[in-house]
Amino acid sequence: MANRTYPFAERIKNVDGEAINDILKASADPSIISLAGGNPASELFPGKELAEIAYDLLTNEPALTLQYSVAQGYAPLRDAVLKMIAERDNIIPNGDDIIITSGSQQGMDFAAKCLLNEGDKVIVENPSFLGALGCFMGYGAQLVGVDMENDGVNVAHLKQTLETTDGVKLLYTIPNFQNPTGITMSTEKRKEVYRLCAEHNVLIVEDNPYGELTFSGEKKPSLKSMDTEGIVIYCGSFSKILAPGIRVGYIVAPAPIVKRMAEAKQANDTHSPMITQLMVYEYLRRHDIGENIQRMRDLYSRKCRLMLDEADAFFPAAVTHTTPGGGLFVWCDMGGDYDTIAVYKECIGHKVAFVPGAPFMADPSKRCSAFRLNYSTMPDEKIAEGMRILGNALKKIMA
Ligand SMILES: Cc1ncc(COP(=O)(O)O)c(C=O)c1O
Repeated sequence: MANRTYPFAERIKNVDGEAINDILKASADPSIISLAGGNPASELFPGKELAEIAYDLLTNEPALTLQYSVAQGYAPLRDAVLKMIAERDNIIPNGDDIIITSGSQQGMDFAAKCLLNEGDKVIVENPSFLGALGCFMGYGAQLVGVDMENDGVNVAHLKQTLETTDGVKLLYTIPNFQNPTGITMSTEKRKEVYRLCAEHNVLIVEDNPYGELTFSGEKKPSLKSMDTEGIVIYCGSFSKILAPGIRVGYIVAPAPIVKRMAEAKQANDTHSPMITQLMVYEYLRRHDIGENIQRMRDLYSRKCRLMLDEADAFFPAAVTHTTPGGGLFVWCDMGGDYDTIAVYKECIGHKVAFVPGAPFMADPSKRCSAFRLNYSTMPDEKIAEGMRILGNALKKIMA
C-alpha cells in the first residue's frame, strides 16, 4: 500500500493513547503479573444468571429484545435505575432526566459533545481518569489540573483556578475511590466544590463508577444529591457492579441536557443494545445485586489490604501510597525528581506491569514520580510476588 498520510482532524491529534495502549497491551500477556489494568474480578461476574436471562429474553421476548428502540433507553430500566440511585445515594430527580448509555464512558462523550466548544476549559483532578481526559481533549477542550490531596481536590487551588481562569465550562470529578488514586473526597469538600462551581457557573460532571465498592459500607453524599441549581451531570455504570462487557451505563442530568444527549446518541449508535439493557433490567428484577456487590467489596478489600501490606514491607520508606476505602486502585509516589517510566522498564523486564503516572496528569509531558497499581484481578500470590519485584525495582532506581 502507498505510504500515505491521512488528514486527521486537529481535535484527534491532541489525543495520544499510544503510550498507555502499549502498556496495557504488554499487561495482557498472561506471563506478566499485571498490576496495570483496571478490570473488575471476572470470577465475580454472574455468568450463569445472565445466561438464563439472555436465553429467556431471546426465547420469550424476541421482538422486544431484537427490534430497534428509543435513544434514551428502555423505559423500565430507566425507572429501575432512578429507584436504585434514590435508595442508595439519595439522588432524587429535581428537573433531571435519565439516559441509558453504552457505558458511562459514552455518557461522558455525549456530555462533552453537547457542551464543549474548541478551546473551552475543563477543570480536572490532577491526576484523573485517562478515558475522561482523552474524551475532553477529543472535543478540543483544554485541561486545567487541580491538585489532589488525601481527602479530594485542594479546594484553595480550585477556588484560585476558578477565579483566575476564563472559559471554564466543566469540572470533572470522581469523588469516590478515584481512578487512579483511590482517594475519596470528604463531605466538606463536596459541599465546597459544589458551592464554588455554582458560584462560577461551571457545570460538574460527577463520575461515580466505584461508589458502591466501599469496603466499610460507608458512603458520602453525592454532588448530585446537593444539586439545587441544576449543574450536575451524574455518570453511573453497571461495569463495576455487574460486568463491564455488557456496556450499560447511565447519565442523570438536567432534562434539557439529557434531551440533547439523546439527540447525540440517536446520531451516534441509535440506542444501546436492547439485549444488554434488558439483561440488566431483568437481573435487577430477579436478583439482589447488593449480594453481588458485597462479594466484590469483600474480595477487593482483602486484596487491597494485601497490596498495602506488601507495599509497606517491600517499598523504600520514601515511597508513599494512598489507603483506599474502596474501588480498585492504589496510587504510589516516589517523590523527588524520579520518573516512573524507568521503574516500569525495570519491572517489565521482570514480567511485572503497572501504569506510570504521567498519562493521568492534565499535562502528561511533565516527569511524574507517581504510578498506579490495581489489585482486583491478580491472584493473591501474584500480587505478593509482583509487589516484591516492584519493591526491588524501586530500591534499585532510588539507590
Ligand atoms: C473513573 C471512570 N469512569 C468511567 C469509566 C468507564 O466505565 P464504563 O465501563 O461504564 O464506560 C471508568 C472505567 O474504568 C472509570 O475508571
